[in-house]
Formats: sequence, structure tokens, C-alpha cells
Amino acid sequence: MANIKYTVPGMSDADAERVITLLQDRLHAANDLHLTLKHVHWNVVGPHFIAVHEMIDPQVEAVRGFADDLAERIATMGGSPKGTPGSIVDNRTWEEYSLGRGTTQEHLGALDLVYQGVISSYREGIKELGELDPVTEDMFISQTDKLELFHWFIRAHLEDKGGSLSTEGASSEEDAAQSAS
Ligand SMILES: [Fe+2]
Repeated sequence: MANIKYTVPGMSDADAERVITLLQDRLHAANDLHLTLKHVHWNVVGPHFIAVHEMIDPQVEAVRGFADDLAERIATMGGSPKGTPGSIVDNRTWEEYSLGRGTTQEHLGALDLVYQGVISSYREGIKELGELDPVTEDMFISQTDKLELFHWFIRAHLEDKGGSLSTEGASSEEDAAQSAS
């Protein structure tokens, strides 16, 4: 519970507290994602190293920007954004990224699953925010638009000329990494 003392005009405290909870969940997801993407940037190896290494950094920067916008929206609504590493680990509902040094295809396969999880959760949030707060919904929609674009950048490396994904049906990052390589 956010325990707010004030919020934006025209919104009940109860609604604001729910919106803050949704924002905080996305803040943890964005902080986790930009750190994970940087980890991939550092750990990819193989013949396509430089292309993938350099593709990742603009994604890191964009997702760091998403985190900043989410956190400032929490503060705007009267909440207190949590951005410490411990709070991410304590509150996240997903597992730590599982690959260390790996080929570009292995990491791209695993990132396909990472993006699937993050984007699906954004869409859940959008559904709920349509009623609760269209202003926050708009932020979620614009961030999802970019995340889906980045996901396509990943998937274009995993797609054959018939349009099939090598990671189709993979249920874990390891599984996806193996299918992709
Ligand atoms: Fe770098």
C-alpha cells in the first residue's frame, strides 16, 4: 500500500494507490531490464559481436528513460518510488536473467523470452489503467510501443526467411538460448 497524503486532482486516493502499485511494478521491470540489457551488452561473444553489442546500448538508454518517467509519475501522484537494487530483487515476480558469457544467438534467444514477459505485463497494466487513469495508461502505451519495437529487433535475428522464430515454444531462457543457437 502506497499510503499517500495527496494525489493528482480529480482522483480518489484509493485509485491513486492502485495506479502507484502498477507504476511501481513497471519501475522494477524497467530497472531490471536496463541492467539485464547492459549485462548482455557485456557478455555477448561470437562473429556477430559488434552488431549485437552496439544494438543493445540504445535499448539500455531508452529503458533507463522509461524508469525515470515511471518513478517521477509515482512521485507526481503522491507516492514514493522505490529504486534500490534490494527493492527490485525483493519485489520482482520473475527470475534473475540466467545466462553469463554466451553467443549472440543464445543471448538474443533468451532476450526474446525476457521481452515477452515484460511486454505482456505492460499490456495487463494497460487494460486496468483504461478505467483507472488514462494519463498513466498513455505512458504505458508509449513505453510498450518502444518495447515492442526493440523486441522485433531481437526477433529479426531469430527469424528464418519463412517467418518462423527459432525460439517458438521455448519455456525458459536456457531453452530459448539453445533453440536459437
Ligand atoms: Fe559499452
